[in-house]
Amino acid sequence: MRLILLGPPGAGKGTQAHRLVEQHGIPQLSTGDMLRAAVSAGSEVGLRAKAVMDAGNLVSDDIVNAIISERLDQPDCAAGFILDGFPRTLVQADATNSMLASKDMELSCVIEIRVDDEILAERIGGRYTCANCGAGYHDENVKPAREGVCDHCGGTEFNRRPDDKPETVRTRLQAYYKETSPLLGYYYAKGLLRPVDGMADIDAVSAQIDEVLANL
Ligand code: AP5
Ligand code: MG
Repeated sequence: MRLILLGPPGAGKGTQAHRLVEQHGIPQLSTGDMLRAAVSAGSEVGLRAKAVMDAGNLVSDDIVNAIISERLDQPDCAAGFILDGFPRTLVQADATNSMLASKDMELSCVIEIRVDDEILAERIGGRYTCANCGAGYHDENVKPAREGVCDHCGGTEFNRRPDDKPETVRTRLQAYYKETSPLLGYYYAKGLLRPVDGMADIDAVSAQIDEVLANL
C-alpha cells in the first residue's frame, strides 16, 4: 500500500499516519519530521531549512525531493509507505510520479483530510508531543491518562513546535491554499483522490480511512 495523506496544517495527517503504521506495518515518511530532525542535528539541510520553517514557508522542492527519493530506496519502503506532508507543490507531485515510476512503484490513493480553518488553529494551538517517543497530545482533545506523563513511554518531558505560534500558523495556511491545494485537482484528475471528513473525532476519521483502504 502506497498512500499520500494530504491536508492543511493540523488536519491530523501525523495522527492518522501513526495509526496506519501500527495497523499496516509500513513506515510513515513525514518530510516535516525529517526536516525537524535535520534542524536538531544541525546538518547542512537543517541549517538551510530552519529559518524557512520557523517563518511557516515551504522549504525548497529540491531539498524535500532529494530527502524523499533517498528514503524510498530504504528496504522498509518495499512493502509500502505513508507519505505525510509530501508532496506539497505541483513540482513535488511531478517529482513523486517520476520517482515512483523509476522504482516500479504505483500510488494506491491520496487521502484528503478535510478540516475547517478555525478548527485547525485550535488543534495546532493546543498540540504538544512527548520529547522521548514523539507521541502526540492536545491540551483539550488528547490528554495523557496521567497529567504530565506520556501514555506510551512514561516520559515526562514534552515539546511544542516553534512554528505553532498563531502568526506562523496563518502563513502555513496560506502556503497550503496557494501551493498545496492545487494537488487536490491534480490527484482527482488521476482518479486517486479519496476525501475524508477530518472534523470527526480521531477514531471516526480512522474508520473512514479504513473504509477507503478496504475498497482499494
Ligand atoms: P509538517 O510537519 O508537515 O506540518 P503541517 O503540514 O503544517 O502539518 P502538521 O504536522 O502541523 O499537522 P498534522 O496534519 O500532522 O496534524 P496532527 O496529526 O499533528 O511541516 C512543517 C514545515 O516543514 C512546513 O511548514 C514546511 O516549512 C516544512 N515542510 C514539510 N514538508 C515539506 C514539503 N513537502 N515541502 C516543503 N516544505 C515542507 O494533529 C494536530 C493536532 O490536532 C494534534 O494535537 C492532534 O492530537 C489533534 N487532532 C488530530 N486529529 C484530530 C481530530 N480528528 N479531532 C480532534 N483533534 C485532532
Ligand atoms: Mg504532522
